[in-house]
This record gives sequence, structure tokens and C-alpha cells, in this order.
Amino acid sequence: MAHDLFEAARDAMAKAHAPYSKFPVGAAIRADDGKIYTGANIENLSFPQGWCAEPTAIGCMIMGGGKTIREIAVIAEKLALCPPCGGCRQKIREFASADTRIYLCDEAGVQKTLTMEELLPFSFETDILG
Ligand code: THU
Repeated sequence: MAHDLFEAARDAMAKAHAPYSKFPVGAAIRADDGKIYTGANIENLSFPQGWCAEPTAIGCMIMGGGKTIREIAVIAEKLALCPPCGGCRQKIREFASADTRIYLCDEAGVQKTLTMEELLPFSFETDILG
């Protein structure tokens, strides 16, 4: 059920380190192992060194033993249906499968569901790199 993932993303957002943008974001992944992995954006005084909520959650998933993103919920308190940025779309794509679902949320819950193909059509793919 997606509501538990929404709640996990909302709880993660409360841990954001976003003193510069003041734009907290939370993400929660349900991985192939059935576990939920969460993340928030973590900014830096040297602005380009900060990173988004999604890679925090992906890092937690990988280190926790998850391999594939089954579902991912994203929430930003200041922007309903906050879409993952371009870089995050490629990062999610790395660990997605054809049936991965991306949930965009507002303060009440999941409001929009996207497939990976809808989120990142014509994504970078090649056999040359292995
Ligand atoms: N942000 C995310 O965490 N995820 C996104 O997909 C969009 C942007 C963060 C990065 C930065 O800390 C803040 O939102 C403002 O851009």
C-alpha cells in the first residue's frame, strides 16, 4: 500500500538539512527485499556539494541490501507533487524496472503515480558500457 511509503517520505522530509534553500524534500523507497529505505536532501554551505533526497534514499537502499526500486514516493512541503529533478530521474532509473512506480505526494498522501517511462522517457541506455 502506497500510504505507508508516503508516511515514510514525510517522516524523512522532517530530517532534511536544507538551511540554504529552506526547501525540505523527503523520499521513501520500497525495494525488492520488501524493506523501506528513506532519505532527505542534505545541503552544504558550498552549494553544489549538497544533494537531493532521492540519492540519500538510494544510498540507504544499496547499503541495506536492497537492489531494485519497486516504488518510490517523493514529497516536498513547499511544492505539491514535487517531481524528481533530472539528475534524480537518471539515478532512479539505474535501480528501476519496467514496473517501478513513482509516487508524487502532497501533504495528504499520494496524488499522482508515474511509471519510469513516463518520468524519464528515452533515457540514457547503451550496451557499450556493459
Ligand atoms: N531537491 C530534492 O531533494 N529532490 C529533487 O528531486 C528536487 C530538488 C532538493 C535539492 C535542494 O536541496 C532543494 O531541493 C532545492 O532545490
